[in-house]
Amino acid sequence: MAEILRAPKGLDGVAVADTTIAKSDADGTLTYRGYAIKDLFESSTFEESTYLILYGRLPTKGELEEFEAKLKRYSMVPHNVYELVKAIPNEAHQMDVLRTAVSGLGATEGGISSEEQELSIIAQMPTLVANCYRLNRGMEPAEPDPSLSLSANYLHMLTGKKPSDFEAWSFERMLILYLEHDLNASAFTVRVVASTLADIYSACTAGLAALKGPLHGGANEAAMQMLLKIGTAANARPYVQEALAKREKIMGFGHRVYKTVDPRSQLAKKLLRELLEKQGKGLETYKLCEAVESAVWESKRLPSNVDFYAAPIFMTLGIPIETFTPIFASSRIVGWVAHYNEQLMDNRIYRPDATYIGNKGLNYVPLDAR
Ligand code: ACO
Repeated sequence: MAEILRAPKGLDGVAVADTTIAKSDADGTLTYRGYAIKDLFESSTFEESTYLILYGRLPTKGELEEFEAKLKRYSMVPHNVYELVKAIPNEAHQMDVLRTAVSGLGATEGGISSEEQELSIIAQMPTLVANCYRLNRGMEPAEPDPSLSLSANYLHMLTGKKPSDFEAWSFERMLILYLEHDLNASAFTVRVVASTLADIYSACTAGLAALKGPLHGGANEAAMQMLLKIGTAANARPYVQEALAKREKIMGFGHRVYKTVDPRSQLAKKLLRELLEKQGKGLETYKLCEAVESAVWESKRLPSNVDFYAAPIFMTLGIPIETFTPIFASSRIVGWVAHYNEQLMDNRIYRPDATYIGNKGLNYVPLDAR
């Protein structure tokens, strides 16, 4: 029998697959298909970066126009999925609602090719995220407006207000930052499900379940709650010191790969400042975030991650906190689809081992003799 290798806890430092989709590095760099995140953040659109991640290269002008038109065409959600959403109690977490809705989509979207399924699930996510929230709050579902770009339309559906060009652009920057991040917990989950040859809806439903946790995508919502609790820059240091003394996690800090800087966090930090300046509302939120960042770095040498600055950006854009993690999911689903397909290109079912440390050789005792 072949020797069983023991992997470290959390599979830290273990490569379990080859990928060409994205690469994050301890030196604080991130690339999608070989392109630096900074360049995509500054110059690309959500649709163009999505094309890049799905197909491995930047589109031509014609290809991009065709792709954008397809995403618009697929963005409507079947109404029976909304019926499913309406049956969920109002107090449910929005990630639970979204996970149920995506699972419902899988039971509905029969008769289309797998490529159409993949594009439609990506295109439907913004509509679903906005409308799961709206329905849950007793509002009518919003219909996507085909005259707007995907990000402007998405922000409009989330807030009920037509965004300025800069607000829509800022929101789109965050969607680009969230698109993909190599083999994180949710992408790995998606690949495990893909390896069983289950469909894309099953894989994405599982991805959503993994993303919900506060150690992963749930951190943006938790970071916002924490920032609201801290309140002012002056409270940052005592809050951080007390939390660390109690061995509590500071949400939006730390990362398995990035030990000194998360490049996405630095881009988002600059964006938060620009957004606040444009809105003329003062820099209190920025100063609060910076004070928390300095306090965590001084006490524990942990850098902020993307979720820490995503939270106040979404808040500044007027987006409801409950939808922060669903928004992350609606972008990251692009990476999941790419991982799903990459897994299938060179598939073998994931079936690791576990070291058995339980009882052995016990004698069964009948119920009435116990
Ligand atoms: N607050 C307090 N302590 C922390 C934090 C934190 N945010 N992050 C790590 N630590 C501590 C760990 O407990 C550990 O302490 P110890 O050595 O005393 O036991 C030490 O720092 C080193 O931890 P790592 O090995 O670097 O962390 P790991 O790779 O296991 O976990 C994780 C990474 C889950 C992101 C962790 O940093 C964390 O829980 N952060 C808070 C949640 C969060 O922001 N998640 C979002 C991640 S990014 C994303 O998913 C998009």
